[in-house]
Amino acid sequence: MPIAAATLARLKAVVGTRGAIDDPAAIAPYLEEQRGLFRGTTPLVLRPSSTAEVAAIVAICAETRTGIVPQGGNTGMVGGTVLAADGSQVIVNVSRMNRIRALDPANNTIAVEAGCVLADIQAAAAAAGRLFPLSLAAEGSCQIGGNLSTNAGGTNVLRYGNARSFVLGLEVVLPDGRIWDGLRGLRKDNTGYDLKQLFIGAEGTLGIITAAVLKLFPQPTDVATAMIAAPDPAAALALLGTVQAASSDQVTAWEFMPRYGIDLTLKNVPGNADPFADRHPWYVLAEVAGAAARGALEASLERGLAAGQVRDAVIAASDTQAAALWRMRETMPEAQKREGAGIRHDIAVPVSRVPDFIAAADRRIDAARPGTLVIAYGHLGDGNVHYNLSPAAQAEAAAFLAARPALTRIVHDAAVEFGGTISAEHGLGLLKRDENRRYKPEVELALMRTIKAALDPAGIMNPGKML
Ligand code: FAD
Ligand code: MLT
Ligand code: ZN
Repeated sequence: MPIAAATLARLKAVVGTRGAIDDPAAIAPYLEEQRGLFRGTTPLVLRPSSTAEVAAIVAICAETRTGIVPQGGNTGMVGGTVLAADGSQVIVNVSRMNRIRALDPANNTIAVEAGCVLADIQAAAAAAGRLFPLSLAAEGSCQIGGNLSTNAGGTNVLRYGNARSFVLGLEVVLPDGRIWDGLRGLRKDNTGYDLKQLFIGAEGTLGIITAAVLKLFPQPTDVATAMIAAPDPAAALALLGTVQAASSDQVTAWEFMPRYGIDLTLKNVPGNADPFADRHPWYVLAEVAGAAARGALEASLERGLAAGQVRDAVIAASDTQAAALWRMRETMPEAQKREGAGIRHDIAVPVSRVPDFIAAADRRIDAARPGTLVIAYGHLGDGNVHYNLSPAAQAEAAAFLAARPALTRIVHDAAVEFGGTISAEHGLGLLKRDENRRYKPEVELALMRTIKAALDPAGIMNPGKML
């Protein structure tokens, strides 16, 4: 059902002309989607500037049963911000709510609005001599409301945890328009259910996050960054154990990439340069942060060389060199996108099982579609593999993409067989909603439906996503 003109007029009145977009050309960018798999439509994008405006919008939508798609930086990978095709839903984009409300260095907390860009929060923390460790390649455009709603992971989970672990308090507009002010900065609070956890990772299906109190950390005194060439993922994992032990658990990132991924970043992303003279099968981008990080890393690499776990290594001698090494890893998604057709995955298995998972998945993919190119990269230290696929040649892209369901089934079946999950950090959105039903135990699905029905009985919050 299209949205009634009177409802649209009431919604526009809440935000005024600065906060309402109804021109189809201006709406178009809000409908774009990272994977290029889905496209919906809407007559109205709302850009509220305060929690009170969000609450007023949601109250009108609740009364009129109008579907709401919350949106932040729109960098999500699973179609979580895609609109229905019939124009029956509005976007509530929180980008204008981008104030840092407070920073308390003694409490090591920062209170931010949902539309704050992640990199801006990192910068505000750094300016106060603190660290906000959540970090991902999209940090220049993703927003904290989106990060929390997807429970984003990124490159520092190994040491600091995922988005969920940084949240002390939340402010949420509930599906009936009430505001829940849970903006506490407490590290201990056992006064009942931990409600904030319901909204983190909920992908906008239970309410709109409008603000959060986040944990900050001390800035590390010494940071060592290295690119390490390894013979295989098992060696790279063994070396991780060595570095963790030698550094008193100060490894903050242990990201891995195969040679084919390196080839793509060199070919498709100007400015990247191979740090090694020779080609190697696997690469680890390692970061160790804390007192004596560099010494611990150097000693571990020497031991790794002797044990055959390391083929070569470069430790960055400057921040510029470290940034160049990081760029190789961070441009991996873009490099694959520019190559043409590709199929992406976001699986996790127990860290110890990554090598066996990759070996099994490689065998099965090759049997199903010989010659398929695998770019298994990502967050090795978390057991999180972006087990991505490209066609043997882009000329056969159409046939390759037609085989997507069968190829994805192989990857997801293998992940679950090895004790893993089909979505480690990107969420379910529209892309994996149905797939999740295949793997998630019925009891868990039933509990999720119970929670959804209790909080959003009319089903107006991000309809059709996740469940
Ligand atoms: P959006 O895409 O706008 O929204 C994501 C979901 O959250 C949607 O379901 C939306 O409805 C909901 N939502 C957004 N804001 C709110 C809110 N205020 N209240 C309630 N619901 C809301 N992800 C990782 O986890 N790790 C990575 O390493 C990583 N790397 C990436 C690299 C690149 C190059 C790109 C393009 C993406 C990457 N991502 C990664 C995916 C993406 O950046 C994250 O999912 C990010 O957390 C999304 O934030 P966003 O503001 O763009 O959210
Ligand atoms: C990454 O780790 O680079 C991101 O999660 C994006 C991707 O899926 O490639
Ligand atoms: Zn990732």
